[in-house]
Amino acid sequence: MLKIALIGSTGMLGIDVNAALKGVNFLLKNYNSKNLDITDARLTLDAMNNFKPDYIINCAAFAFVDLAEEEKEKADAVNHLGAQNLAEAALALDSRIVHISTDYVFDGTKKTPYFEDDETNPINEYGLSKLKGESDIQDSGASYIILRTSWLYGKNGKNFVNTILKLADNQKKIEVVNDQIGCPTYTKDVAYAISEIILKDNSKNEIYHLTNSGSASWYEFALEIIHVFKRTNCEIIPVSTDKFVRPAKRPFNSILDNSKIKEDYNIELRHWKDALRKYCNDIGYFIR
Ligand SMILES: NC(=O)c1ccc[n+]([C@@H]2O[C@H](COP(=O)([O-])OP(=O)(O)OC[C@H]3O[C@@H](n4cnc5c(N)ncnc54)[C@H](OP(=O)(O)O)[C@@H]3O)[C@@H](O)[C@H]2O)c1
Repeated sequence: MLKIALIGSTGMLGIDVNAALKGVNFLLKNYNSKNLDITDARLTLDAMNNFKPDYIINCAAFAFVDLAEEEKEKADAVNHLGAQNLAEAALALDSRIVHISTDYVFDGTKKTPYFEDDETNPINEYGLSKLKGESDIQDSGASYIILRTSWLYGKNGKNFVNTILKLADNQKKIEVVNDQIGCPTYTKDVAYAISEIILKDNSKNEIYHLTNSGSASWYEFALEIIHVFKRTNCEIIPVSTDKFVRPAKRPFNSILDNSKIKEDYNIELRHWKDALRKYCNDIGYFIR
């Protein structure tokens, strides 16, 4: 039976990965910041050595994009050094690391979807720390799969869908940016894809893009949320990014091309609009 160490098991993605892996015959062990601090190399190696996993799935992160501008050491410690520590443990124990990364490794200036080998150039501290994590895993000598995903929402975390729903229940109008485009992605779909990847593993060391298909601006995403969750009495107003000054810059285009994972693993996630409907059914958030 394959032994899997799930790091970040209490996070928005980690909880769904745990559920997806439980459905398969894996021996699973969960880790979060309470029972393993991945920023500590010694503790990380000891914990992995005690379990000796075949796979280490890293869903842990410092994922607060704005806060990372101020607390860049914390972001670096988890997203960069944490990834490096896990990769070193993976190398020492001959485990394979499945690491989750982000669309924010790109600067967003490309006019078409990003491929895995497009030039990276993060424009915020979070993206930079995630890119350093990716690079260290690639340089570590450990066996790896890096999965870049984007615009995640799921049942167990603070996310854009829930924010829009809460605002829509309290406001008649919501302003949402319409000049940043990307791929909204349901954590449950990524979680099932991760279990598929492990089952079909081709043993290659690769980076893959993995998002729901299609693309949208945040404004279009908000419009669809209002529509699906029947909050149409609230008006969504498109505005440009310069109207919302935030600590961290965001890429204008972070659409990820998913054709490589389709080719290598025959994995293609459903359209983001279908995923949103599924999420709506799954959470049943006061559907009117
Ligand atoms: N959220 C998005 O929109 C988005 C978009 C693209 C990519 N991603 C990537 O997707 C992955 C999952 O993100 P998420 O939104 O699910 O994150 P999340 O909800 O913030 O969960 C983070 C997880 O990391 C754990 N963690 C934090 N610091 C740790 C440490 N020092 N040692 C061990 N565990 C630690 C947390 O444990 P505790 O609960 O104990 O604190 C929690 O389980 C991350 O790699 C993120 O960069 C996210």
